[in-house]
Amino acid sequence: MKIKSSLLFISFLLFLSVNLIADDKKLIKVNNSFITKFEYGEMLYNNPRGIGCNTCHGSDAKGKDIVSFTHVYDKKKYNCVLSVPNIKSSSYDIFFNKVNSKKNPKKKFKKEQVCEKLIYKSNIMPTYFLVEEEIDAIYYYIKNLK
Ligand code: HEC
Repeated sequence: MKIKSSLLFISFLLFLSVNLIADDKKLIKVNNSFITKFEYGEMLYNNPRGIGCNTCHGSDAKGKDIVSFTHVYDKKKYNCVLSVPNIKSSSYDIFFNKVNSKKNPKKKFKKEQVCEKLIYKSNIMPTYFLVEEEIDAIYYYIKNLK
């Protein structure tokens, strides 16, 4: 009985890993040629019908500082840096919602977070119109990017 249940467990693990491997081996047909999910994700990350994610998040998806500027608020000068976040560890939920959302959700900022608030409220990231399969592929690509 014990052996039977561990065998069952092992075959379950095998089933899981085979499925994970199959994910990248499964080919997707794009413009008459077959490519892997990773390649499909890479293509969309750099050219997602709109400005490429790489432009802002960097080709390694680890984010980067795009520009710094000064902002005057309440007669005080603030040195702001527009930093685009690392998206390698974003959860799927956040990822899925952010890519197609029109506006950042409401968020409270502390009084001194003048730059953060300004940048967040400017909704710098464009709105995309990606279907689930495309979002899945980009997410897969980013997670597996070395
Ligand atoms: C013009 C610059 C720009 C482009 C292009 C861009 N982003 Fe962003 N992205 C941002 C900024 C800035 C933020 C931080 C939140 C904000 O201010 O909107 C962000 C936030 C995110 C987040 C949320 C991160 C988190 O964990 O909260 C995800 C996920 C994301 N971007 C994915 C993408 C993907 C995928 C693409 C391409 C389809 C893309 N972005 C294209 C600028 C950009």
